[in-house]
Amino acid sequence: STARIYRIASIPGDGIGREVIDAGLQVLRTVSELSNGEIAFEVTEFPWSSHYYLEHGHYVPEGGLEQLAEHDAIYFGAVGGPEVPDHVSLWGLRLAITQPFDQWANIRPVSFLPGVSSPLRKADTTELEWVVVRENSEGEYAGFGGRNLSGRGPGNEVAVQTSLHTEKGCERIIRFAFDLARTRPVTKVSSVTKSNAQQYGMVLWDEVFTRVAKDYPDVETESVLVDAMSAKFVLHPEQLSVVVASNLHADILSDLGSALAGSLGIAASANLNPDRRYPSMFEPVHGSAPDIVGQGIANPIGAVASAALMLEHLGEPAAARAVLAAIDATTGAGILPKDLGGVATTAQVTEALVSALREDQ
Ligand code: NAI
Ligand code: MG
Repeated sequence: STARIYRIASIPGDGIGREVIDAGLQVLRTVSELSNGEIAFEVTEFPWSSHYYLEHGHYVPEGGLEQLAEHDAIYFGAVGGPEVPDHVSLWGLRLAITQPFDQWANIRPVSFLPGVSSPLRKADTTELEWVVVRENSEGEYAGFGGRNLSGRGPGNEVAVQTSLHTEKGCERIIRFAFDLARTRPVTKVSSVTKSNAQQYGMVLWDEVFTRVAKDYPDVETESVLVDAMSAKFVLHPEQLSVVVASNLHADILSDLGSALAGSLGIAASANLNPDRRYPSMFEPVHGSAPDIVGQGIANPIGAVASAALMLEHLGEPAAARAVLAAIDATTGAGILPKDLGGVATTAQVTEALVSALREDQ
């Protein structure tokens, strides 16, 4: 049979990005090896990082997006270095890809892994698993605003940061959440806003949610304010299935979710362009973790689980399931990195994932 060949653009970026992307690529090579020649990956690495920025004055060079566009998917580590302000690196690399490639849906599953203890007592006795759907193109990250708008002088500076919510932007992410809910065992969508305080954008979101919900009478719905939802994540997580929220709210809630599941180091994410006009981008939720870089202890599970999301998006669901099963087998066997309370190094966890894949054959 002829191989299905996927062209992957890898951007390890900064800090532990390199360490965890290397682990993920090792897992993908194993997937390919075990596929009897059916699945192949052509990986091209792009060196765009904060180091590269300091040398060249930009993250993405001219023509860089065109090069990325020739790939089936982008595999991204993290960006953020000590010598570059965080808003420069985030806008220079990550948002410089998600925005032009219209990756408007950011999917962040929260899985509770076997063998990993959660700070939630409930997790010991309750099946918990949900997915945060983050609006990824507008909202609080629209980039509208300015500083010192009328030259008010020292001590009087003002800054405005405006959120943008469009009816179309709300509708597409909310519909995406409902469609996703229909594929899950619990068909429920929880919509999160702060429409009591933010009476324009968030009220528009609420209205669109109510309207779209009518097209999905089989899906249970609830609308919850973000502060109440953060309490619900801790107190009643068993009531969650799909949680859809704005760019900022979903970013915060998904970190909370992954911390409840044991660590930021296991959290995966997909930045999807559901229209498939552009490649989608897959990345662990965590950042560059400068405090542990180079120590060989970065948890590769978030990056590997992101590779599973990539396989799913590329139309390889069996391979995706095999990778997730390898993660479960590894943590279930007690092979845990430091952030999960264990002693395994990045290399040892990766080796265990690869062995679990081979044994699953
Ligand atoms: P961070 O996620 O890099 O680290 C937070 C804490 O979690 C640290 O103590 C770190 O050691 C730990 N941690 C994170 N990932 C881990 C892993 N895989 N294994 C073990 N421990 C892990 O967030 P922080 O410290 O707020 O930001 C550091 C830099 O990363 C900043 O420059 C920030 O802007 C950037 N950042 C980039 C993101 C991206 O590229 N998508 C996302 C979040 C932060
Ligand atoms: Mg974040």
